[in-house]
Amino acid sequence: MARRVGVITSGGDAPGMNAAIRAVVRGVTAGGGEAIGIRRGFGGLIERTLEPLGPRDVANVLQRGGSILDTSREPRFLDPAMRRRAIETLESEGLEALVTIGGSGTQQGAQLIQREWSGGVLGIASTIDNDLGGTDTSIGFDTACNTALEAIDRIRDTANSLDRLFFIEVMGRRAGFIALEVAVGGGAEAVLLPEVELDTEWLVGVIRSNHERGKISCIVVVAEGAHPGGARGLLHEIEDSLEALGLPGGADARVTILGHIQRGGNPTVRDRVLASRLGIAAANAALAGRGGILFGVRGNTVRETPFDVALAEKKEIDRTLLEMVNTLAG
Ligand code: F6P
Repeated sequence: MARRVGVITSGGDAPGMNAAIRAVVRGVTAGGGEAIGIRRGFGGLIERTLEPLGPRDVANVLQRGGSILDTSREPRFLDPAMRRRAIETLESEGLEALVTIGGSGTQQGAQLIQREWSGGVLGIASTIDNDLGGTDTSIGFDTACNTALEAIDRIRDTANSLDRLFFIEVMGRRAGFIALEVAVGGGAEAVLLPEVELDTEWLVGVIRSNHERGKISCIVVVAEGAHPGGARGLLHEIEDSLEALGLPGGADARVTILGHIQRGGNPTVRDRVLASRLGIAAANAALAGRGGILFGVRGNTVRETPFDVALAEKKEIDRTLLEMVNTLAG
């Protein structure tokens, strides 16, 4: 039975990571183990920045965004010599399990450690992009969508008042999950995703038909990876065609890039509950001496998926939702 369990957050922070840390620490302690926090992601294993975490150390963090352990993107982890150093840290500190909270880059790192270390590595799915396999939804996604949606609602007010066309860029370099969700939730007239080939003629046609149907504002949600230049690049590419349409507001379009505000802020209740469930499940698995598993949810049930299966899964966007955007724009 594992007694000393390390916990790490890595990659892009996501609202709800603190709720997951809290659940791991309290779950491990309640089960008779000792939790050790590792600062600044995998870099903390290389630099040996570890600290014991008791139940009181994670008081009052449930509602906070970011990560109390800090996080990092750690390219050094691709170097086997650096990973050996990290594993030496795990061994010399007497850790028997490691819980990794993060997205696909983090879980790839976790899989590498699991292959090279005798202890158990347990992953917790956490990324606002929601592009990790082995789970329907990941910690931070719901909060990021709600943050983006609130911004879109505000932009709709001004877009309506001035009869304007807006391109709103949301996060997601390789995945359009946030874009699709908020396009439906925010009543967007069109949505552009990295997963779907960009057709600018079609887009200009949608904007024209929107105007012809008497709509007084038009919002196009653009995932950052849908165009190599993001929403600004897209507008630049089609501004002549928009000008040629001669629509009020058409040639006077605005771009809003929501950016990193989507990563911060207090997690929603859904993210707090998800993080708490996955944290407790990972703590129990760590104490039971298990490893090589990613924790996520399918339907409303916590699911365990082996790292290799979860990382091989190509998560697809919901095409029916995509088709609905057009119809719902009415
Ligand atoms: O964590 C995921 C993510 O927020 C992506 O949506 C975005 O493309 C990327 O990280 C931004 O990374 P950085 O914070 O390093 O600029």
